[in-house]
Amino acid sequence: MGATIDALTADDLPAARAVLADACRFDRAADVAEEKLFGASPRGQPLALAARVDGALVGVAAASCDRVRVLAVAPAARGRGVGSALLTACEQHVWAGAHRRVRVLDEPGNYLAPGIDVDNVDTIAWLGRRGYVRRDEHENLVVDLRDNPRVSAARAAELADACAARGYAIRRAQLDELDAISAHVSIGFGGAWPFEIERAATRTPCGLFVAERDGRVAAFAAHDGNNRGLGWFGPAGTWPEHRGQGLGEALLIACLVDVAAVHARSEIAWIGPREFYTRALGPLGTRKFAVLTRETPHRRATLPPAMR
Ligand SMILES: CC(C)(COP(=O)(O)OP(=O)(O)OC[C@H]1O[C@@H](n2cnc3c(N)ncnc32)[C@H](O)[C@@H]1OP(=O)(O)O)[C@@H](O)C(=O)NCCC(=O)NCCS
Repeated sequence: MGATIDALTADDLPAARAVLADACRFDRAADVAEEKLFGASPRGQPLALAARVDGALVGVAAASCDRVRVLAVAPAARGRGVGSALLTACEQHVWAGAHRRVRVLDEPGNYLAPGIDVDNVDTIAWLGRRGYVRRDEHENLVVDLRDNPRVSAARAAELADACAARGYAIRRAQLDELDAISAHVSIGFGGAWPFEIERAATRTPCGLFVAERDGRVAAFAAHDGNNRGLGWFGPAGTWPEHRGQGLGEALLIACLVDVAAVHARSEIAWIGPREFYTRALGPLGTRKFAVLTRETPHRRATLPPAMR
């Protein structure tokens, strides 16, 4: 019997977690199941889909704007068209939203990973047979936090003291200043960062740290803003006039000390200045991700006006 595709509901969450745990060998999707399947991104709510065989959940997917945010089929149910049916349903959602290109995974502000892990060759090949091409590549840095001498409360205090000598206070943000910080980050950096720092700040303990001087936020860094519960680092930024004074490093270590209390490692996603991280943290591991996209198969003449 074929699978039926319908809406995934909150009641499906335990079963969805089990499917993700079984299906996703490269990402800790089950640990962030709720965020990925039902959580908002800066662009709104996703469409969450269920594939069921005889009423049992065998596959899940979520699509948001032009992204397939997550797609997984339990190994025992593979090879019967379930994945293709979920993918088609995601694509229909994307085309209905007047996007001309669909991308897999890297949704700003709410992403399981910044692309498909390049070691996940079967899934990359499967998507390739369905018209997806590799468009870009992203990298995560992986920081080992066990017995890492560069990530300790003592070093965090030392770096904070050096910043204090230059007039900056390194501290955890307060919830009542979140709106002001978010607006400041929005003007200074924009993108999905205000969304991610709000996610980071509203966890317990607050995952947002700031450097403050004369009542102004000069730099910030966050953890668990995306993939809450996995201990990923980011985003982080120092306003240009305050750069070169050790604020970024002091904030990075403050965040990682927090993460190290719970996790053995952290990932720094979608990295910018790699040298900054290797200088601050020593040798780092890497994960590489392929960004796959597919153009709409609809011919121009058949597209709704917004897509032409
Ligand atoms: C990729 C994945 C979703 C595919 O799921 P699936 O249910 O096996 O997909 P399908 O059954 O549609 O396709 C698998 C093969 O079975 C074939 N097949 C067999 N019987 C079929 C049937 N009755 N109907 C359609 N296709 C059938 C398909 O043609 C396909 O082969 P092809 O790629 O050579 O064309 C699944 O392997 C998976 O969950 N992978 C890991 C998840 C992951 O890493 N996701 C990224 C992070 S979210």
